[in-house]
Amino acid sequence: MVQKITVVGAGNVGATTAQRLAEKELARTVVMVDVAEGIPQGKGLDQWESAPIEGFDSHIIGTNSYDETAESDIIVITAGIARKPGMSRDDLLNTNAGIVKQVSEQVKKTSPNAILIIVSNPLDVMAYVALKTTGFPRERVIGMAGVLDTARYRAFLAEAADVSVRDIQAMVLGGHGDTMVPLISCTSVSGIPITQLISKEKLDAIVARTRTGGGEIVKHLKTGSAYYAPSSAAVQMCEAVAKDQKRILPCAAWLQGEYGLRDLYLGVPCKLGRSGLEKIYEVELTADERKALEMSAEAVREPMRAVTL
Ligand code: NAI
Ligand code: 2OP
Repeated sequence: MVQKITVVGAGNVGATTAQRLAEKELARTVVMVDVAEGIPQGKGLDQWESAPIEGFDSHIIGTNSYDETAESDIIVITAGIARKPGMSRDDLLNTNAGIVKQVSEQVKKTSPNAILIIVSNPLDVMAYVALKTTGFPRERVIGMAGVLDTARYRAFLAEAADVSVRDIQAMVLGGHGDTMVPLISCTSVSGIPITQLISKEKLDAIVARTRTGGGEIVKHLKTGSAYYAPSSAAVQMCEAVAKDQKRILPCAAWLQGEYGLRDLYLGVPCKLGRSGLEKIYEVELTADERKALEMSAEAVREPMRAVTL
């Protein structure tokens, strides 16, 4: 358990993340901060009142001020607007860049040693905005996308193979967009290569569904985007850091030559521990996967060039 985890944004992803963090008792105090007056206070109090029933002792509070977030160990940034039907993640670019910049400036002042987990979209570009605005090292600014995209891929595979989700090992790399790269070469069911259990045709359909998994939820909801699986993914990353678990999870990391790529955020296998991003693993990719990763990198660079810092 760490002393304090702050969640910026008390909307769907932020509030669900705060509740899950407290239920897992990952921090002594969980703080939710949002610009909307009354919302973080009301949600925080409601959540704290669930503690005697759920049986957790992490205290949750909601606030509009960064004073209460001071000296956080971990900060999850979910502030921003979410997608509506017909919008791509990149449509959120300029609005959310302004919000993430403003949040990062506050965080830099009040929690200069925190590890940041960025969730706001477009994810890879928002992580870049946070990195540049705070000036924190790349070890302390990590993007959440790969854990979510991989969870979707694993869920679809488990259904198709009629096996437990627990037994699916897989990894989705690349940017958090339709060019993401589910790695078939690294996908197995308890060590059995997935290609021995699911036909190529079915696998191709699952890969395509994974790439548009976020949009599939938006189409159903109409008024916003996914938040149950996204909050689970953010909390899994927080847990790896808070408990120094040394977990290897696909996360968006600032690449400095890994996979032959530099100066951009992209989803790659990362070791997460108490100091944040502790190592990036360079796994062997097939020629097709490498090409797909390079295309995904290009899709991230385009909105990066459009953002003004
Ligand atoms: P939401 O609309 O429910 O909540 C966003 C919250 O941010 C609102 O409560 C709003 O008041 C707050 N906010 C706006 N400006 C702020 C500021 N300057 N400071 C503090 N709070 C501020 O949206 P939701 O569904 O929670 O999604 C949040 C973000 O996360 C969106 O950008 C969404 O696209 C992204 N997202 C990313 C995922 C990923 O895999 N990386 C997955 C799911 C969502
Ligand atoms: C998702 O993938 C919207 O990025 C969000 O659900």
